[in-house]
Amino acid sequence: MIVLSGMRPTGRLHFGHYFGALKTWLELQKCDQNKCYYMSADWHALTTDYANTSKIHDNILEMVADWIAVGIDPKKSIIFQQSMVHQHIELFLILSMFVPLGWLYRCPTYKDQIKEIKNRNLNNYGFLGYPVLMSADILLYMTDIVPIGEDQLPHLEFTRDIVKRFNYFYSDNLFHIPNAKLTKTARVLGLDGRKMSKSYNNTIFLTEDIDTLYQKINKMITDPTKIKQNDIGHPKICVVFSFIQLFYDKTKQLNIQNNCEQGLIGCVKCKHLLMEILSEFIKPLNSKRKYLLSDKTYLVNILKTGSDKASNIADKTIKRIHKILKF
Ligand code: TRP
Ligand code: SF4
Repeated sequence: MIVLSGMRPTGRLHFGHYFGALKTWLELQKCDQNKCYYMSADWHALTTDYANTSKIHDNILEMVADWIAVGIDPKKSIIFQQSMVHQHIELFLILSMFVPLGWLYRCPTYKDQIKEIKNRNLNNYGFLGYPVLMSADILLYMTDIVPIGEDQLPHLEFTRDIVKRFNYFYSDNLFHIPNAKLTKTARVLGLDGRKMSKSYNNTIFLTEDIDTLYQKINKMITDPTKIKQNDIGHPKICVVFSFIQLFYDKTKQLNIQNNCEQGLIGCVKCKHLLMEILSEFIKPLNSKRKYLLSDKTYLVNILKTGSDKASNIADKTIKRIHKILKF
């Protein structure tokens, strides 16, 4: 199976990225039958952050360092940079010739972001075309499986519609319909109980400094009615518990849940437990990340090698399209 996914390069990654995407990327990489493409979605980053690109290069390297630190292996998977494979833009342009504007204006992610993001002007051609660009990413490699979070599903639906329209116009079955692989974790909560996101400033980074990690866990929202240790608690509304669920098996989770609900454990103890779990997870990542970022040319070379490989495959698709379009 051909697998492709991408992330916008926003710098170091947090636990939302890990449970929302990377864990599935790792799972798919494990299977020898899969050929996985993992891409830094540079142009997608530009659709919203076009006005200030000064950090983009560092952000790409930091993101890729985190990918490799958690186990994305450049020997097994093709790690590449969208902007280094020019065929993405070519297919983006070709597809944009027959994508109806109505599809784009109706796209739920477009409507949501226009409403939500107020500090930037998103009334742009590039931003409107975001799903077309994402479709180009997916179709260039004849992708079978696209691991994504639920929020990206409308874009995959969009890609499927593009395939049908392409086949209708050119009566050619060049592309097949790709499938999503949704991540199991619905969403990772941030320190304040909202969705974990850099823009809410509520994240825990995968490579968090351990002192900062402790401070952040101390700030985490628990059940506000549980003040004393023997007060009865409600784990379902507690961020600490939501994290424990991500790491513990069912029996251990149930144990904590019962103890909390019966007032047998206090939040301080619970937080200490989480500190232990998370620092054990983070420590090896911290040293790997430090090592990787100490040699930036190594990271740049991984991206170059991956992008060359991707480009070879992408070129075949573009050549076939030129033929179909009778150029
Ligand atoms: N839009 C995706 C996101 O924000 C990133 C992305 C770009 C992507 N191209 C892709 C994901 C292709 C999957 C496949 O998360
Ligand atoms: Fe949350 Fe643990 Fe406190 Fe219960 S005891 S509210 S699970 S931190």
